[in-house]
Amino acid sequence: MDTARADAAVIGLGHVGLPTALGLAEIGWRVVGVDSAPERVAMVADGQAPFYEPGLQDLLTAHHRSGRFLVTDSLADAVARAEVLFVCVSTPQLPDGAADLSAVEHVARTIAATLNGDKLVVDKSTTPVRTAERIKGVLSRYRNGAHAVEVAVNPEFLQEGHAVHDVLHPDRIVLGVESDRARALLTDLYRPLLDRLPNPGECAVCDRRGVTTDRSDRVITTNLETAELIKHAANSFLATKISFINMVADLCEVTGADITQVARGIGLDPRIGPQFLGAGLGFGGSCLPKDVRAFIRIAEDHRVDFALLREVAAINERRADRLMEKVRSALWILKDKTCAVLGVSFKPGTDDVREAVSLRVVTRLLAEGAAVRVYDPVAMPAFQAAVPPSPPVTYCASPYEAAAGAHALLLLTEWDEFRTLAWDRLRAAMAVPVIIDGRNLLDPAAARAEGFDYFSFGRP
Ligand code: UGA
Repeated sequence: MDTARADAAVIGLGHVGLPTALGLAEIGWRVVGVDSAPERVAMVADGQAPFYEPGLQDLLTAHHRSGRFLVTDSLADAVARAEVLFVCVSTPQLPDGAADLSAVEHVARTIAATLNGDKLVVDKSTTPVRTAERIKGVLSRYRNGAHAVEVAVNPEFLQEGHAVHDVLHPDRIVLGVESDRARALLTDLYRPLLDRLPNPGECAVCDRRGVTTDRSDRVITTNLETAELIKHAANSFLATKISFINMVADLCEVTGADITQVARGIGLDPRIGPQFLGAGLGFGGSCLPKDVRAFIRIAEDHRVDFALLREVAAINERRADRLMEKVRSALWILKDKTCAVLGVSFKPGTDDVREAVSLRVVTRLLAEGAAVRVYDPVAMPAFQAAVPPSPPVTYCASPYEAAAGAHALLLLTEWDEFRTLAWDRLRAAMAVPVIIDGRNLLDPAAARAEGFDYFSFGRP
């Protein structure tokens, strides 16, 4: 690798860092990426996306060729090349719910020891409020030389499954800064992005989200603490919406109301909005569950009793139980029955199974003596690595193969391809035609008309 300077360094090439780095390359910047996992660096250097994310491989290939994205395994090397350093390392959860910030601290110390010029350290990792203060403390304690080094907070709001879209079409850019210099550096970096935002009618995803068309509206400049809090508040609010609608779904089930229509009826109020009102198995993934727990913990640390969020988490924990109740009510005894599980990623568009409800459901089915046959279009390798090897799960090449001999088909992830399953093939494959739809994906009337015993969440 050459030793050319870069316009930005991206530290951590995970689900946030890699799309961010490639997005910056796509809008014209020269970017150096670095990761502490040598196998990840080797894959990326070889032009191979290390995880499934639509559009990511194409972008990697393009900027492998353009030369605007370079990768190194040396943090010091990456730091030395750029003035703006995006910190995108993971902040996993500790047993007490708090975020483990050791990777952030390590990066801050290395930056301090490597200073070869002025730097702006931009925290993009999801970190508790006042982490930026801590980073500032580390930088001043361990710094080497007299260069100007500042900290900014620039949270990322991308969703897995359309990360590339979200990086290139952000609905907002939050800049927590402490100086005109920091604001100018970041605004200049993001300007090409703002300049090429789609107009109404040009991007279906932006149109669906009702994103404002005023480009200047999308940048919000705050102090460091506000930017940090925005990130946790955003994810916790989304989680609250989901837990809220799931409780309403439970109420629908006992009253005969239909949660789909309730969600539409409330979501058309622009103050509420239609998104994140999908009832079912609740929220998984590497962000919402962890961030809700971290926010509860942050509140506790500051002696604020956020009981509302504790309940949001507790409601979510119970969603797998609700599914199991439905399975038991359909099958009574699970021992020696066969369950087909369609979808194991925590949501469609990703092979990520972190905190996926499928892990809990499959573990319980196996513990109760059922045989489990799984199909997912991309996430089976990740699922196989995450689920205990015994008792074994059978991995299948299609939904119909998974359905073979099954007494119930459990739909756990709403992949598009499950919307158009051939009823006759399913019915012919299954021992008993029972569908338990954890994501309210299928039409109940159509499933029943095809002879299936069909159960979903909050729908008659
Ligand atoms: C979430 C946020 O949506 C992003 O804005 C944020 O940037 C990201 O966390 C992060 O902090 O990095 P993500 O984890 O990719 O993004 O997934 P979501 O699309 O939020 O879905 C989370 C879970 O909620 C999934 O299990 C999904 O199935 C569930 N969900 C979503 C519902 O149960 N109902 C809904 O209506 C929507």
